[in-house]
Amino acid sequence: MTDRYAVIGHPVEHSKSPQIHAAFARQTAQDISYEKILAPLDGFAQTVAAMRADGFMGANVTVPFKLEAFHLAYRLTERANDAGAVNTLLFTGEGVIGDNTDGVGLVRDIQHNLAVAIQGKRVLLIGAGGAAEGVLHPVLEQQPGLLVISNRTLDKALIMVKKIEERGDFRFVSVQAQAFEDLQGQAFDIVINATSAGLSDSELPLPPGIFAPGALAYDMMYGRETPFMKFARLQQARVADGLGMLVEQAAESFYLWRGVRPLTAPVIAAFRA
Ligand code: ATR
Repeated sequence: MTDRYAVIGHPVEHSKSPQIHAAFARQTAQDISYEKILAPLDGFAQTVAAMRADGFMGANVTVPFKLEAFHLAYRLTERANDAGAVNTLLFTGEGVIGDNTDGVGLVRDIQHNLAVAIQGKRVLLIGAGGAAEGVLHPVLEQQPGLLVISNRTLDKALIMVKKIEERGDFRFVSVQAQAFEDLQGQAFDIVINATSAGLSDSELPLPPGIFAPGALAYDMMYGRETPFMKFARLQQARVADGLGMLVEQAAESFYLWRGVRPLTAPVIAAFRA
């Protein structure tokens, strides 16, 4: 019998996850189906309950339900707990387990696919919303030399830094919050855009010179050339979009569900083509 999975979102029509998981399933000869499910904005929990009753085995969760999924899960993985959000659900007899594969997806894309080591590097993380929170711990686990969080609303970056300091498990990394204008005169090896500014084609008020020679500019958004990417190109940075992260987070979900790790490179290449 074919095992059923899906991505739950609102909107969800644009999601590439069904194609990615179909490619993984073909590659690994796993008998699964993967659908898109549009949940009403006030009906996430009911949608999950109905899916479980219908025999689904798990799901991915996308905008705007990642926080709700976090609260719905009866058990969380450590990385979901760290992220404060859930993008992967595993349905078991006991209940719903919540995981988060976004951060590991980003780190794997940067370190493995793009071959840029994070350890010891000067990293700038732009944004302090759910997307930034979701990748903060996995990036810190790679022990960058410095991690600066910069956000339009500085308070949110300050709160993120405070939470890290209170936990105390990243004492060996210097973690700071800075306003965009304070970045003037500093250069970073890796700059990650985790804001949603690109969705509205908005420019971030970043000072020129923030990219060290050979720096990687990573936009977690995919499918469009954002103003951040254009800015980074003009500044001679090496630019990457979030397609690799999307495929890598999917691969990690697939592994959680199926116990088989698909190859990501051919899938990323197929989507680029
Ligand atoms: P997500 O889940 O995508 O992170 P979010 O939690 O709403 O969504 O966070 C959006 C992030 O993008 C925030 O860091 C936001 O900055 P603020 O905290 O100041 O709102 C950032 N953002 C969105 N539009 C932006 C813009 N035009 N300029 C700068 N930052 C922007």
